[in-house]
Order: sequence, then C-alpha cells, then structure tokens
Amino acid sequence: ASTLGAAAAQSGRYFGTAIASGKLGDSAYTTIANREFDMVTAENEMKIDATEPNRGQFNFSAGDRVYNWAVQNGKRVRGHTLAWHNQQPGWMQSMSGGSLRQAMIDHINGVMNHYKGKIYAWDVVNEAYADGNSGGRRDSNLQRTGNDWIEVAFRTARAADPAAKLCYNDYNIDNWSWAKTQGVYNMVRDFKSRGVPIDCVGLQSHFNGNSPYTSNYRTTIQSFAALGVDVQITELDIQGGSATTYANVTNDCLAVPRCTGITVWGVRDSDSWLGENTSPLLFDRNGNKKAAYTSVLNAL
Ligand code: XIL
Repeated sequence: ASTLGAAAAQSGRYFGTAIASGKLGDSAYTTIANREFDMVTAENEMKIDATEPNRGQFNFSAGDRVYNWAVQNGKRVRGHTLAWHNQQPGWMQSMSGGSLRQAMIDHINGVMNHYKGKIYAWDVVNEAYADGNSGGRRDSNLQRTGNDWIEVAFRTARAADPAAKLCYNDYNIDNWSWAKTQGVYNMVRDFKSRGVPIDCVGLQSHFNGNSPYTSNYRTTIQSFAALGVDVQITELDIQGGSATTYANVTNDCLAVPRCTGITVWGVRDSDSWLGENTSPLLFDRNGNKKAAYTSVLNAL
C-alpha cells in the first residue's frame, strides 16, 4: 500500500490524524490529509468550550465542518472529548458540586445526541489521572463532584449513543512502570469487573524527553487489551521525530490484535501544537514525507 490509511487497513486498522477546521481551506493540508488518513479527530472543535459555549446552548458549527469534511472524504471520526478539566467554557469552570455534575451529564447528552450514530469512538473522559507517583486522580472541579464522576460519564455516554465505542483517554500512561499507568489500568479493570460501560483506552502517546517512548509500551498495550478493551493510539507525536521510534510504536500496535488504530496529532510539523521546531510529525512544512513517514509505512 502507498498511503498510511491503506497500509493500516491491510490489518483491519485505521490511521488517523487530528484536523483543524481553520486549515480546511489550505489545499496543501487537505490534499495530504485526504490522501493519507482514514480516521479524523477534531483537534479542538468538539471540545466542551467549542460545543457548549453558553450553558444549554450548543454550537456544532466548527465540529460539523470537521465531521463533514471527514465523511465527505470517506473517513470515520473519533469524538474528542466530552468530560475534561481543560478547555472548559467559563461557565463550567466556575461550577462545582451537584450542578456541575448535572452540567457534565447534560453536556454529554447534548453532544452525543447531535452526533448519534456517527462517531466511531468517543473520548468520553480525558486526562482524569494525576502525573507523578500517586497513581490517583487529578484534582479538578469534576473530580471534586465525587469519585464516581468518571463512571457516571461512561454510563451517560452509553445511553446517549449505544453505537459509539466509549474510550478513556490520557497521556503519560504509555510507560507500564509509571504509577499513572497503573492507576488507569486499575480503574479500567474495576470498570470491567463491575459492568461500567467502557470499550477502549486511548494512549495519547505524546513522546518527549520527559516522557519518552520505552520498550515496555507494548506491555502497556497488551495489558490494557487483556482487560477486554480496545486500545487506540490517539494523539501520537514524537519530539525530534525519530523514525526508529515511530516504527517501534507502529510495531507495538500491530503486535496486539486489539490495538485498532493509530492517530497522529496533526499533519505537517508546522501544524503541530508543539511547534514546528520539535519536528514531531510525519510531514515537513512543505508537505514532504519525512523519514518517520517511510518508517511507519514500512512497518504497517
Ligand atoms: C491541544 C490542541 O492540539 C491545541 O490546538 C490546543 O490549543 C490545546 O489542545 N491532549 C489532548 C488534546 O487531549 O486535546 C490536546 O490538543 C493535546 C493534549
């Protein structure tokens, strides 16, 4: 196969990218994105601040631009994200307690109802665990509504759109030896044992000097999969752009049947949230394929 999407499809997987609605008028950008990828995540447009800027007033204009571009070009869409401490609209940031809990539920229902039946997988909850050695939850207004907020989010999501896979998504849960990874693993194990509806774990996989790719990444993928969930690599970027590391990540996913796809967090280095100078993606600013691109294509 000569594109990432087609190569991934040879083993029943997908290869996706984050898409920014503001770049859909850039034909160099859309040409690469359309050619190479068969799964799309809206980089910001389906987040809470974008979709519910005022309480109870939903706005899907930017999210729909990304969604429609994807579907018109034959791609599937991952939904990102419904419950998160970050990129909350101002009205939600200032809420707490029972009213915040209800606002979270209403938000999940409002967004999932709009996209009902149209989304491959939703990142229902994003980044709920703390960095460092605690292995516990991150402090946030949502966490302060009660430890059960995550399972309430998943139960709400299942009822809102039974067709969507429901994922827990986080960063720094790639290294199997890290406490944060074990904390999330224990949550997923608990959810599966109690019948809380969860279908997948998203490993964001933002690799850099402080959280590098390690050889136990495959163990992490295998371990989550063994709990009975799919694993998706949801926001891959590698600072420095090592072709070897890109190949390792790809091979680790391919080694686990339930690792169902890989998404890179942007198209060209100049599109990356990390800045072009970190060279984290598969295409350079001129749209040329980098060594990392060839390395991934050959591994798929
Ligand atoms: C980032 C976007 O790429 C930026 O454009 C935005 O300014 C901030 O958010 N983890 C996530 C993503 O789950 O939503 C983040 O995306 C990157 C880290």
